[in-house]
Amino acid sequence: MQAWLRRKDINQVTVHEEGRRLVPTLGWPHLVALGIGAIVGTGIYTLIGVGANLAGPGVLLSFLVAGVVCACAALAYAEMATMMPAAGSAYTYSYIALGETIAWIVGWSLILEYTLVVSTVAVGWSGYAVGFLKGVGVDLPQALTVGPHAGGFVNLPAIAITWVVAGALIVGTRESATLNAILVVAKLLALGVFVAVALPAFDASNLHPFMPYGFAESAGPDNVKHGVMAAAAIIFFAFYGFDAISTAAEETKNPGRDLSIGIVGSMIGCTLIYMVVALAAVGAMHYTVFGQSPEPLALIMRELGHGAAAKIVAAAAVVALPTVLLAFFYGQSRIFFVMSRDGLLPRSLSKVGKRGTPVVITVFTAVVTSALAGVARLDEIAALANAGTLIAFIAVAACLLVLRKRDPHRTRVFRAPLAWLVGPLAILGCAYLFSSLPTRTQLWCLLWNAFGLLVYLVYARRNSLLAKFSPQAAG
Ligand code: ALA
Repeated sequence: MQAWLRRKDINQVTVHEEGRRLVPTLGWPHLVALGIGAIVGTGIYTLIGVGANLAGPGVLLSFLVAGVVCACAALAYAEMATMMPAAGSAYTYSYIALGETIAWIVGWSLILEYTLVVSTVAVGWSGYAVGFLKGVGVDLPQALTVGPHAGGFVNLPAIAITWVVAGALIVGTRESATLNAILVVAKLLALGVFVAVALPAFDASNLHPFMPYGFAESAGPDNVKHGVMAAAAIIFFAFYGFDAISTAAEETKNPGRDLSIGIVGSMIGCTLIYMVVALAAVGAMHYTVFGQSPEPLALIMRELGHGAAAKIVAAAAVVALPTVLLAFFYGQSRIFFVMSRDGLLPRSLSKVGKRGTPVVITVFTAVVTSALAGVARLDEIAALANAGTLIAFIAVAACLLVLRKRDPHRTRVFRAPLAWLVGPLAILGCAYLFSSLPTRTQLWCLLWNAFGLLVYLVYARRNSLLAKFSPQAAG
């Protein structure tokens, strides 16, 4: 059999060798908290301004478009995660439904997504943390707080927060998830404070003109893509994170029930919260006032004369952004872990420590993400993270459709409603969002995957466990 047709057996996917199995410790409240913890972050706190700058008040539609596409993808994820409650999410589903080569591309794209989200959020956190420290009289030198692109040397706070989160994960999943739940409450309360302050200041005249750059992408100022769709392609960052829950499948006590509640529940909850926050923001102030701000929500509150409330929201961002880091860091180490357990990456990486957590791979992930966070540019890595995520979402929706056709009678604890509408909508929606990303981002994503395919051809294809079990398949 050709390597690209090699598929994992769906019946074997939850059976693993001794010493290479993750310990099931999580229930659905942990998963909902993990989901909201991963979803609500830099997207709503910071990129809402970038989006408004690209689309005007029409950013409300950008939130709607990105939300609908993600909701369709979330339904596909929920069905796949409950059918195949094994670590690895989109990568594992693709290995079963679409074959090894596509699974590799998806895994490689997930590595791009998780790495860049961790690095992006670490840089975003650093910005808030440095401002916060300045407010209490601790002035760190610029050379040590921003990367070379912004006139500094290295972003030390971003590196530091990455290692703190890695430490929490090495100590143990359950402890980290409980801490995550506490921090999630803090950031939701802060968004509540923002809405309570901004909504009473709603003025319909702020919504005119509603779509200054139109709907489909158009070349705006500086030749940067503008319009509702260009903004949706960036705002998309704010919505994902629910996929990180599915990477916890193997560590979930009752996967069938808990994953459905975790994925669908956190997705619906976050979409509702975002729509209210976005409406409060564009209604309270003209988008040109906060569109360029690195801290748009705090700026709106200050402009409305609520300085103390603005400080609360800023402090909450510092406390809460690490929950996003935690979830994506967790997902990243699990993707590496599963790919190495399958032999596609070096097998030595998939040993778990005494506490049931993959220590080697967590440390390796911390090295890579903190190195990037130390020097990278925030907006560019956020867009590239979106590109990797969109590829994974397209693959999961394709898995949904392929398995419905190939294996229609298999038990599905959660059945996505209207699969033949939801699946194609997710695929086409993600493809449209991908086409609306900056051209540079698309090229970088292509390059990353071309490099990945080279690694696959040279190393992974030959070392794949499936190839070793049936050597004639190694070609
Ligand atoms: N959705 C996550 C965020 O907004 C990645 O930060």
